[in-house]
Formats: sequence, structure tokens, C-alpha cells
Amino acid sequence: MAVPDLTPAKIVAILAFCETRTPQAWVEQACARVPELLLDHANCELKAASTAIGFLYRYPERSRLAERMSRLAREELRHFEQVKKLLQECGVPYARLSASRYAATLRQAVRPGEPDRLLDTLITGAIIEARSCERFAALIPHLPTELAGFYAGLLASEARHFEEYLGFAKSETGVDDRTIADRIAELKSIESALITDPDPQFRFHSGAPFPELP
Ligand SMILES: [Fe+2]
Ligand SMILES: [Fe+2]
Repeated sequence: MAVPDLTPAKIVAILAFCETRTPQAWVEQACARVPELLLDHANCELKAASTAIGFLYRYPERSRLAERMSRLAREELRHFEQVKKLLQECGVPYARLSASRYAATLRQAVRPGEPDRLLDTLITGAIIEARSCERFAALIPHLPTELAGFYAGLLASEARHFEEYLGFAKSETGVDDRTIADRIAELKSIESALITDPDPQFRFHSGAPFPELP
């Protein structure tokens, strides 16, 4: 199945934002380990819902942000339920996998104190959403039809989330555009290394697989 032609400009924008591409060796690994891919993907959707809820706790006075994050949390929970249903249909029992280095490393890069914390959390959210889209796009041509179709649907949804996080980084923090652009570049460089550096663990957001020993 081809990458969905939902909005070619949007896909181009996401790929440009990500800068680095998912290594082909990761795509091959993912196609050979679909049950783990789906299990970790389910966890990622749950985590995305929990991140959105975190904004409600931390910034209740920001009504536009809180309103959108509340809807986003529900949408991510629906994704979680959809992936869980797919796991059930594939006969894969649901289990929690250990977290990957990806989200933990990005979380460590978030600065304490405001508005830095809000800005970094929103930028990190945009980066994770954009990377998820880039991974879906990389996987879709190589997956069985049903799973490819499911991921094509999610790609459209996560592409919206990426834009919304970036929009809030600009509208909610009061930080000037130049400073925001610099911080996006810093956080993207941390993220790119997590995607392209060798990673001993396979997860939805893991890095390049270690080469097999001869
Ligand atoms: Fe999602
Ligand atoms: Fe999302």
C-alpha cells in the first residue's frame, strides 16, 4: 500500500520537520516483530493521552490549551483502544513493555521553571507526534494491508497533533519566534540521535538496530 495521499504538503512538512529518516534496518526489524511493535504502540498511545492530561493538571488556567488537551486525551485513548482491539484480533495478549530510551531522554531535556517547561513540553510533544507520523509513513508500504490501512488512518490524525503542539508553543508561551526556533533545533538534534544511533532495544521509537554479529 502506498503512503496515503491525505495532504501531500502536510507529509512533506512532517518529513522536513523530522530532518532524519527512520533507518531502513529499523523498518525491516519492525516488520519482523509486529506483535512487539503493536504492544509498544499501544503503550505510546496511552502515554500520549497521559501527556495531554498532564497539561490539564499543570496549566488549568490556560483555558484554550486545557480544552484542546482534554479532547486530545480522549482521541489518544481511542487510538489506544483501537490498537488493543487489533492486538486481540491478532491473538497477541496485552502486556506492558519496558519503556524505551526515547521518551525518557526527551523528558530529561525539558527545563524546569516557566515558561521554559511549558515551551519544552509542547515542542517535545510536536516532535514525538511528527516522528510517529514519519514512522507510520515509513512502515505503511511494507505492512500487511489491514495494518497498513489502520496506520494510514492514524497518520492523518497524528499529523494534526504535530501542528497543534507547535501552534500552542507559539501562542501559549509568550516566547519570541527566534528563541522558539532555536529550542526546536536543539531538541530535534537530541531526538534525531535517538532515531539514528544504534539501540539495543526494539520499540516503536527505538533507534537503528545493532548490526547482527556474523
Ligand atoms: Fe495517537
Ligand atoms: Fe497523537
